[in-house]
Amino acid sequence: MCGIIGIVGQRDVAARLVDGLRRMEYRGYDSAGICTAHDGQLLRRRAEGKLVGLVNELAQNPASGSTGIAHTRWATHGAPVEKNAHPHATEHVALVHNGIIENFKELRDELRADGRTFESETDTEVVVHLISRRIEQGLAPEDAVAEVLPRLRGAFALAIVFRDHPDMLIGARLGSPLVVGYGEGEMYLGSDALALAPLTQQIAYLEEGDWVTITRDSATIRDLDGNTVERAVQESGATAAMIEKGNYNHFMQKEIFEQPTVVAQTLRSYLRPGEQRVALPQIDFDISSIDRVTIVACGTSYYAAMVAKYWFEQFARVPVDIDFASEFRYREPVLTKGGLALFISQSGETADTLAALRHCREQGQVIAAVVNVPTSSMAREADLLLPTHAGPEIGVASTKAFTCQLAVLAALSAHFAVKKGLMDREEEAEVVKHLLEAPACLNAALDHDEDIAAMAHLIAPARDVLYLGRGADFPLALEGALKLKEISYIHAEGYASGEMKHGPIALIDDSVPVIVLAPSGPLFDKTVSNMQEVQARGGKVVLISDAKGIAQAGEDCMAVIEMPKVHPLIAPLVYAVPVQLLAYHVAVAKGTDVDQPRNLAKSVTVE
Ligand code: G6P
Repeated sequence: MCGIIGIVGQRDVAARLVDGLRRMEYRGYDSAGICTAHDGQLLRRRAEGKLVGLVNELAQNPASGSTGIAHTRWATHGAPVEKNAHPHATEHVALVHNGIIENFKELRDELRADGRTFESETDTEVVVHLISRRIEQGLAPEDAVAEVLPRLRGAFALAIVFRDHPDMLIGARLGSPLVVGYGEGEMYLGSDALALAPLTQQIAYLEEGDWVTITRDSATIRDLDGNTVERAVQESGATAAMIEKGNYNHFMQKEIFEQPTVVAQTLRSYLRPGEQRVALPQIDFDISSIDRVTIVACGTSYYAAMVAKYWFEQFARVPVDIDFASEFRYREPVLTKGGLALFISQSGETADTLAALRHCREQGQVIAAVVNVPTSSMAREADLLLPTHAGPEIGVASTKAFTCQLAVLAALSAHFAVKKGLMDREEEAEVVKHLLEAPACLNAALDHDEDIAAMAHLIAPARDVLYLGRGADFPLALEGALKLKEISYIHAEGYASGEMKHGPIALIDDSVPVIVLAPSGPLFDKTVSNMQEVQARGGKVVLISDAKGIAQAGEDCMAVIEMPKVHPLIAPLVYAVPVQLLAYHVAVAKGTDVDQPRNLAKSVTVE
């Protein structure tokens, strides 16, 4: 979602601000803008659409100045047109915002009654007027900001530039992330460390309610009450190379192919192969006493939660509730003491998931989080952090984070079972053995990339596609459908194979490809029966199975995708690969923007 960057520098900053925006393109956006303070003026340039629009605008109307802010906007209030693009500005102040100001209507009414006029439909513009009004009345920037911040309800990360103070910026965060970067004679603000990667590695993460004044050589951080506070400056470890495509055409493609490596990397933290044991980070609560697990997540992370439910229930015999984060708080869930609340998130910043985490904390749950960004809010707020080691994921559609989440969740469920006395040493050794097979099996699945690319043309013309799976492969059917929708804009649905007769079978005809996920194993025959029900009605099936499954049932299929023979435990990891590749190649065949699909954002920081 919206990306923010700010620089108080020593020379013109416009080009570097645009560069910073480029590094945040992956977050998803639909307009962009920049504002510098120069020679007693605020120079603002904005454009709708992709960054090239802003670059062209700057070529025609350059913006000098060694202090400035910039923004990529993902529209919430108001269409993605230039007048709604950030920065929003008065003569005195300009600012960029990530988040939603929930009480903007009442603030706007107040400001209108005060004679102020608005030029955009955004919630953000009230903030600039509130601050500007105080500046015009003679307040210093910091006093104006200190007075306005407590009036804002909702979520925000802000970066603010002042016409008459061209050597400083103010940033603030509540609910949306913002970091401070420490350079040599320069200081920065950014939505994340990656945005600042080529500028500095020295990063301080603002905490909830913090706001900061940066000059070329200082950062003064204050908390909600205005007290000056220290926030540790850490080495971010983010390098510009992390967000380069290398030899791949798209980040999504690169990330799909990274899976064997990053899953192995993740498993290294959770398994002790020599002893054939599962090993989790230090847990300072008694996991064996947990009698209920609630898993909350969004998007692809939610499908990882669905798979985990099968594993937790099967291995640890513990009841598991799963919920979309956006639904969770509002259905007034019953959370009894002694429960574990588990949050799964690539970014660790998804607003709904974070709000659900805080709700569970208030309800006395033990909080665990499976998160890919170790400096994120969720990572910092969890009692038990279970990191995935997927590295930065740039493609909007999540791929490698998903398989790494599954690796962690499989290890966690086995650990849980061991602690509950439900898994003996021999069974644990078996689980470890199968998990260690995953990277090689992922590689074998990736070997079918070219076959999948060759059959993408069969799916690309379709208007609707159905995905079917059973057991722990049912969430994979949902994930396959989500991937296809996200990046190729083809309507797709995932269904539990056995449930197909209760509705979706009415959709079947020869124009609706049906992708069937059916590894050979205990559920194979039943899934194949459902597949035959599709074929009997003229449905065109793509069967994804292993050699044995394909030999048994592949004959009348429109196409088959062969997977290696895998143990059922790791089938969800391995079968993620063909559904990701299929979506990828169909999107490429259709010519869509694979890494930045329309309307989507990488990290959804508004509710
Ligand atoms: C967005 C992304 C998805 C992601 C979901 C949850 O919708 O486009 O790829 O799965 O958010 O994000 P999280 O960071 O919480 O896993």
